[in-house]
Amino acid sequence: MRIALASDHAAVAERQALAEACAKAGHEVADLGCAPGASVDYPDMAVRVAHAVANGDAERGILLCGTGIGVSIAANKVPGVRAALVHDEFTAEMSRRHNDANVLCMGARLLSVHAMQRLVERWLATPFEGGRHAGRVDKLRALDGGAGGCCGG
Ligand code: RB5
Repeated sequence: MRIALASDHAAVAERQALAEACAKAGHEVADLGCAPGASVDYPDMAVRVAHAVANGDAERGILLCGTGIGVSIAANKVPGVRAALVHDEFTAEMSRRHNDANVLCMGARLLSVHAMQRLVERWLATPFEGGRHAGRVDKLRALDGGAGGCCGG
């Protein structure tokens, strides 16, 4: 799978470890920064991955910051991105099964590298269930298009 990763300065070592683990597992990895020692703004890093996923350069994206909150907010502003902030294996799995999440966001100040690796493995391996969830994800896509089309009433 083609995977794009990025983080802000709060998660450089963690991102590098995840990139290495993904490459070792046979994935094609694009590490989009930030550089060690830099101080950056998390929206700038999040849009790198969000754009890579939205334009098809990457099939999935992984974003890290201190809490995972900032990168998830930023990534979800890019049409086509469904970024999920996850904290454990249950939320990682459900973000795939029910939400067809294409970007995984985690907080490096909350989770160990080992824990994040487990979540990445679970997230990459879990399929979207489709079925009744497909229409709901279609409604998320409709929200990408701006006004109208979704969630009437
Ligand atoms: C950076 O200090 C921190 O604010 C950032 O990594 C992130 O947690 C924001 O949501």
